[in-house]
Amino acid sequence: MSPAGASPVHGDLLYEGKAKRVFASDRVDRVVVEFKNDATAFNAQKKAQLDDKGRLNCQISARLFELLEAKGIPSHYVGLVSDTWMVVQRVEIIPLEVVLRNVATGSLCRQTPIEEGTAIEPALLDLYYKDDSLGDPLLTEARVKLLGLVDDTQMTAIEGLARRINAVLVPFFADLDLQLVDFKLELGFNADGQLLLADEISPDTCRFWDRRSSDAQDRILDKDRFRKDLGGVMKAYGEVLKRVQSACPEPRKSL
Ligand code: TMP
Repeated sequence: MSPAGASPVHGDLLYEGKAKRVFASDRVDRVVVEFKNDATAFNAQKKAQLDDKGRLNCQISARLFELLEAKGIPSHYVGLVSDTWMVVQRVEIIPLEVVLRNVATGSLCRQTPIEEGTAIEPALLDLYYKDDSLGDPLLTEARVKLLGLVDDTQMTAIEGLARRINAVLVPFFADLDLQLVDFKLELGFNADGQLLLADEISPDTCRFWDRRSSDAQDRILDKDRFRKDLGGVMKAYGEVLKRVQSACPEPRKSL
């Protein structure tokens, strides 16, 4: 294993996103992902460097991918390389952001009269078109079809996978006194055409409310602290990692 945070052996930079860089590896079917400290919100109109964010999100994601794998949910995750790097299967990302909402907040409450904090049962599945130049707009199923992003069978599989992930994560986090309010998933197909969970699962892509706090601001342990200028962003992410670590084994290493 590389020393903590050190850059592993990797090939060319293939893609740079807002929070991660993707590099070629020595295998065509795998890539190496570096989690960055860059934080963005509101389609990158707001930017900051948050020391240690890359490590926290990489370490939280690795444990959650392994937890989901143990429950039969396939992901692109292969193994950790160091504190901020992981090896993943190369996938073609479906340009959909799949959001599951268990509790109403965020854009749902800005765009509808549903009151903040309303429980949503069964969880609401919202689809967004992954395109920064368009501001990741909310889609309808008819628009997904019109754009030819996925066919009906694939859409059914995506929704099924997203709901299974929710069914694993909600009780997992509840046991850690964390309410999984909502989260965003990205999925992709590997070279064999298998549908895999991809990207990351972290406080950048989930909302967590701390059940140990009754204060509406103090309880926020996710990127909303950055979006809303609440401070203590990395302290909150660190608390999420601490609780996740308490329930998960050390992630496996990949050479
Ligand atoms: P929203 O309420 O702003 O639509 O966000 C829903 C969930 O998706 C929330 O957990 C945050 C996450 N999310 C992302 O991961 N990336 C994004 O670009 C946005 C807008 C939300």
